[in-house]
Amino acid sequence: MENLEQSIKLFQENLKDALDNVVTQEQLEQVRVEFLGRHGKIIVLMGQLKTLDADEKRVFGPKLNQLKKTSEQAYKNRKIALEEEVRKLEILKKQQFDVTAYKPTTLEGSIHILSKTYDEIEDIFISMGYKVADGPELETDFYNFEALNIPKDHPSRDSQDTFWFNLPELLLRTQTSTVQIHEMEEHGVPTALISTGRVYRNEATDASHDFIFSQYEGLFVAENISMGNLLATMKTFLQRLFEKKDLDIRVRPGYFPFVEPGIEIDASCPFCKDGCSVCKKTKWIELLGAGLVHPNVLQYCKVDPKKYSGFAFGGGIERLAMVKYGINDIRYFHGANIEFLKQF
Ligand code: FA5
Repeated sequence: MENLEQSIKLFQENLKDALDNVVTQEQLEQVRVEFLGRHGKIIVLMGQLKTLDADEKRVFGPKLNQLKKTSEQAYKNRKIALEEEVRKLEILKKQQFDVTAYKPTTLEGSIHILSKTYDEIEDIFISMGYKVADGPELETDFYNFEALNIPKDHPSRDSQDTFWFNLPELLLRTQTSTVQIHEMEEHGVPTALISTGRVYRNEATDASHDFIFSQYEGLFVAENISMGNLLATMKTFLQRLFEKKDLDIRVRPGYFPFVEPGIEIDASCPFCKDGCSVCKKTKWIELLGAGLVHPNVLQYCKVDPKKYSGFAFGGGIERLAMVKYGINDIRYFHGANIEFLKQF
């Protein structure tokens, strides 16, 4: 008798716990089956009535009937309450639903700003009939320096200190001007090429210097090519790149051993008329180096300098993108900072 009394108490406690813990209709149904179903715990308890004597039956018969009734009522109450909770939740969800909100679960990729700038440069020259050429990043001293008229003892080597390999004469290229030599050697002249790619210099980094960065290089060699052709080409290139038809260029003398004469080209600031923070109030922006190909370079590539002449130009791609897109630190380009990259 005592056992049955305890079992009834335990049943009531377990049922209460189970009902309190359900949060879905499915869970509630499981509780119903477990406690009140045809093979549920309440049936097992009632089955024990048969084992009792007549006096005990008089006490426990009504008790168990009452237990069944209150348990079924508790189940019904919980069912109503749960339906109400679900209904309120649905209303709340609808109220909080913002049709303008869009939060993708995966991030969408996009072209890296540096690749985009490579493509912009190449596309402009492709449209002018140039071909895209490529060259190795692992170079020999000959292609990076000697053939570009920079002999071993030349002081300009100091400004392009690089990473040397233990293998003799092998280095990481410091400039894309190397592609000029490969192209003229392999395919001869006339030629018009544009090349973009990575270069390396053994330098400390800061906001405008990196030790890995990108350059573009252009070369045009044919008969009767002059400084006039170079300047017209550069003006067209920069006007198209900055999407500004009235952008002007100016020329200053510059020294690069592989061109003669060598020049530095500045563009009129594409962002202002009277001076701004991009042009540091000067109205001009330094953009690239250029010049007429040095006869020694043509000779290294077995091209006759008496018959052919040409121009070459080149510059830093990160620096160009920094001007065009208003980026104030070169280290962002290789920093893999998603917040930075997402802007473009
Ligand atoms: C050259 O490398 C020449 N090959 C350019 C050239 C080509 C001249 C053809 C004439 C004819 P320079 O060392 O100045 O030149 O580098 C070219 C550009 O690379 C610079 O104007 C600058 O934009 C970029 N640059 C140079 N050093 C760094 C650096 N550490 N970090 C980022 N950009 C750099």
